[in-house]
Amino acid sequence: MRSQVIVGNWKMHGTVAQSRELAQAIRDRLDQPRGAEVAVCPPFTALAAVSAILEGSAIGLGAQNCHWADQGAFTGDIAPPMLTELGCRLVLLGHSERRHVFHETDEEINKRVGAALRHGLAPILCVGETAEERRQGLTFTIVEGQLRAGWAGLSPEEMSRCCLAYEPVWAIGTGVNATPSQAAEVHGYLRGILSDLGSKDLAQSVRILYGGSVKPDNAASFAEEPDIDGVLVGGASLDALGFATIVGRCAAAGTTPKE
Ligand code: PGA
Repeated sequence: MRSQVIVGNWKMHGTVAQSRELAQAIRDRLDQPRGAEVAVCPPFTALAAVSAILEGSAIGLGAQNCHWADQGAFTGDIAPPMLTELGCRLVLLGHSERRHVFHETDEEINKRVGAALRHGLAPILCVGETAEERRQGLTFTIVEGQLRAGWAGLSPEEMSRCCLAYEPVWAIGTGVNATPSQAAEVHGYLRGILSDLGSKDLAQSVRILYGGSVKPDNAASFAEEPDIDGVLVGGASLDALGFATIVGRCAAAGTTPKE
């Protein structure tokens, strides 16, 4: 059975001092989470401080993006070895804010995925359609295109080290979450693509998270869906108690036998 994964995406929130405080409050509540894997993705500037606070706990550390080169003349960017040095184990890639605000292309995201894997970081590739694309009936086409392009050239072994996150753009930061059945439909579709890209075993082992306005009150309804293996939480992950509640509810719902 796939265990639930709950990842907090702090986005561009938190000075080092604030991040330390939040990380400590999360650790106090979730030092050894049961029945779920937990990670947080603070801003780059707070990674070292948060890493020190989480050391020895079962809470993982991730980054919100990375460049594809190991080093070089890329002003303002961050390379994978800079992240692993600080204890990062995972990295979000292709988040909708990177795609839509910063115009990252599928090709660039694919290079980032490859670089992350080369350095032992587990990439969480984010895919999702806009409201207009959903209205036009293009949801499956969009997420399939983003997955195939984002994973282009990966070996099955590399694919097995990745996670996916389905994050409909219209649900991110809006308070309007996808319904669990809307999300489950897309997760099921993505699992079919995984089967095609790799194997049935791969499709059954890769974790697919849902993200977009996940809150303590709706988290369990996603985790109860057999094809939803956890949640990627933005706004609600900035509150330690709320985040711990989400983890607890997902862990409980995710370990309840499904169907
Ligand atoms: P949200 O963000 O939970 O604030 O909607 C989710 C995300 O962007 O990963």
